[in-house]
Amino acid sequence: MELLAAPGEVLMSQAIQPVHANARGELSAGQLLKWIDTAACLAAEKHAGISCVTASMDDIQFEETARVGQVITIKAKVTRAFSTSMEISIKVIVQDMLTGLEKLVSAAFSTFVAKPVGKEKIHLKPVILLTEQDHVEYNLASVRRTVRLQHEDTFNNLVKENSRFEDPISAEEEGSAATRGTAVQSIELVLPPHANHHGNTFGGQIMAWMETVATISASRLCRGHPFLKSVDMFKFRGPSTVGDRLVFNAIVNNTFQTCVEVGVRVEAFDCREWAEGRGRHINSAFLIYNAVDEKEELITFPRIKPISKDDFRRYRGAIARKRIRLGRKYVISHKEERPLGVHWDISKQASLSNGNVEALKKLAAKTGWEVTSTSEKIKIYTLEEQDVLSVWVEKHVKSPAHLAYDLLSDFTKRPSWDPHYMSCEVIDWVNEDDQIYYITCCEVNGDKPKDFIVLVSRRKPLKGGNTYAVAAKSIILPSVPPSPQYIRSEVICAGFLIQVIDSTSCTVSYLNQMSAGILPYFAGNLGGWSKSIEEAAASCIRFLENATDDGFISIL
Ligand code: COA
Ligand code: ADP
Repeated sequence: MELLAAPGEVLMSQAIQPVHANARGELSAGQLLKWIDTAACLAAEKHAGISCVTASMDDIQFEETARVGQVITIKAKVTRAFSTSMEISIKVIVQDMLTGLEKLVSAAFSTFVAKPVGKEKIHLKPVILLTEQDHVEYNLASVRRTVRLQHEDTFNNLVKENSRFEDPISAEEEGSAATRGTAVQSIELVLPPHANHHGNTFGGQIMAWMETVATISASRLCRGHPFLKSVDMFKFRGPSTVGDRLVFNAIVNNTFQTCVEVGVRVEAFDCREWAEGRGRHINSAFLIYNAVDEKEELITFPRIKPISKDDFRRYRGAIARKRIRLGRKYVISHKEERPLGVHWDISKQASLSNGNVEALKKLAAKTGWEVTSTSEKIKIYTLEEQDVLSVWVEKHVKSPAHLAYDLLSDFTKRPSWDPHYMSCEVIDWVNEDDQIYYITCCEVNGDKPKDFIVLVSRRKPLKGGNTYAVAAKSIILPSVPPSPQYIRSEVICAGFLIQVIDSTSCTVSYLNQMSAGILPYFAGNLGGWSKSIEEAAASCIRFLENATDDGFISIL
């Protein structure tokens, strides 16, 4: 990181002292949020020339922990000024003073609003863009603004959509935990050191208090040491000032294997409101924790057993937020596609075909798959590895495995059940188990439609096994060049694993390791702003269950 601030930037460096640390000697996330908010506020005020307040902080993830003795550097910069609000980009680096090594702790975005004294209306001046990166960030800022301002609607739509599916929890599941014991309430009195010179409570201070109660709540569930991994947007709904009593309520909403979501609600009361017992809703945020045991190993949390109506609402809300988080992360970080497909070469057919099937099995065998949503018949898992997102949709189908295998390995049938497929034709029937298809998929997000050239390789179970595999991956075929009508896109690794349950039913798992080309079809799904994965899966189940043994779809 540069040691001096560029024009428009603010740099803050902090040596981590024991007073900033938690019980494990690591920088407490609350302290870091306070520093981040201060640096961002100072960058906003440098641009606005008047006092500014935090409107929101987008999803923030913590990639690294920092320890006592290390140094934190925060770089904050206005990426774009809108009318009264500005987006600030924040980068946090930790440096180890003994080795000199630097690591990224977090990259985040906040929005600040310029608050003139009195009723005067301010219109912020535009940001001066100096570098190519400034221009990129300026353009992305408006995409991020749309996503953040639509956040509440997106959430409400997704919850509504999910409520059509059955409740995901079987009431007496073994090892599941009630959340009642994780409730925490705490109160703070806002004093002058917690506020700016106009008396407005600092957003960072409120975030730090929220983090403290959320950590207590998470530790009540895991009886270990929770550490903050990420926070869903902090949105400051209304101001708070010196003299307010802030009441914080936190409880665990849901768990996802090694993660737990804790929700915190903050209400503010001035003296009169305090006596009347009527507060102002200031903020609600959702914090995701991991936890380690005494051997420093990640704890797997028990599944949650919602009991009350509120428990159920929050349990479902946590699932919807998880999907939005994934969708938002991958839509916003949408990257240019790098061609990864291999050239088709008939002399290497056997190794390409085996590699295709092996890659699918390897993807399924990876550890770290997390449940994203479940209903009686359909379970969705996701796996995040650095910047790669994979999805696994598992469905229970009342159809013999061999029939599902025949139907799913014939990709020409796919447009009849998959809403994303427009057309699919065989361009090379290599042999009984390997075919090359040309596929076109519908447009999403206003992009051009996409097309794919895909090698589909299928395998029956080996002797003694019970899993059928149908693997798909993109290949490059010079005889079918890209056309201007379509964006040529790639399938990195996808397909079906079909497991026999008995002679009349099977489990069909659909896996897809996302490329940039595939992501819009899924990230939108995960984020809840397009057709749901469940709809495609339900349509696939209908397709398989309505088929007869000779492969025809029953019209009855
Ligand atoms: N995230 C980002 N920006 C947001 C936002 C959100 N969740 N909600 C509103 N804004 C932006 C609007 O887009 C608008 O920007 P623009 O003028 O550049 O177009 C600006 O805030 C004002 O919006 P407006 O609709 O006029 O006002 P509002 O009634 O929605 O109020 C706040 C927005 C942020 C001013 C108000 O909620 C507030 O005062 N919050 C408390 C801020 C505070 O005191 N924070 C410190 C901790 S308490
Ligand atoms: P919702 O309850 O719909 O999630 P709220 O804004 O009311 O939305 O609350 C946000 C989160 O704060 C909740 O999901 C929950 O985790 C926590 N919370 C709210 N109220 C309480 C409470 N009375 N006790 C404990 N935790 C609470």
